[in-house]
Amino acid sequence: MTTPSAPDSPATKGSSSATDPVERARQRLIVALDASSKALALQMVDRLQGTCHWMKVGLELFTAAGPGIVGELASRGYSVFLDLKFHDIPNTVAGAVRSGASLGARLMTLHALGGPAMLTAAHEALAGMSHPPELLAVTVLTSMDAAQLKAIGVESPPAAQVERLARMGIEAGLRGFVCSPEEVGTLRGLTGPDGVLVIPGIRPAGAAVGDQKRISTPAHALRSGASYLVVGRPLTQSPDPASAANAILREMAQQNG
Ligand code: C5P
Repeated sequence: MTTPSAPDSPATKGSSSATDPVERARQRLIVALDASSKALALQMVDRLQGTCHWMKVGLELFTAAGPGIVGELASRGYSVFLDLKFHDIPNTVAGAVRSGASLGARLMTLHALGGPAMLTAAHEALAGMSHPPELLAVTVLTSMDAAQLKAIGVESPPAAQVERLARMGIEAGLRGFVCSPEEVGTLRGLTGPDGVLVIPGIRPAGAAVGDQKRISTPAHALRSGASYLVVGRPLTQSPDPASAANAILREMAQQNG
């Protein structure tokens, strides 16, 4: 299974080698750093020190802290997933993708709902770059269920809509997707081993579900074919985020051996 290369990281310095199952799990766990300020985000990063390698900067943090947060995290040794879910006309999205790449993000999202022309323009915007980030098309948000889809005029159930959007993304040249744990098996079948499948909606057994609708445990998502797991509130709202991260890493390591 392909995962973008992860540089040696001071963020997880002192952790064991890449043959260690926990270390391999660490390369596949992404923390959703959803915070309302740069200071709060960096506080959380400090509390997680030594446990995680990937940090996801989403709309809340990017809007509060500005683009500099990407470089700040990269300079601390983290690989950054820039999750801004671009959705605009093709020319604008192509420009946004180029800007995101120049910040040093390793993974970036755009909405598959933007359509084939937008996806193709985004894909082509990265052509020729020496170390382009992986573009991930968001299929159907994990907070959407059949009722929510129906409300926006989509009569197909989530699984069928995810598959339709993924096929469209593949046609446009993409191999990376964000989907729920429920659809990852189907998408792995579509992309084959080269697909980069990033799965939010991860909840360890017993964790609060929040606004997520299509969820699974870390072990189940990996078994189904996930490349990366995105975990937010079960870590960031835990009284002890580092312990919570270590528990998830152990569960991932047990699953993958
Ligand atoms: O706190 P929680 O674990 O639910 O966080 C999930 C993260 O993944 C959030 O930052 C959310 O924006 C993101 N995400 C998602 N569903 C998608 C794409 C991204 O929940 N389809």
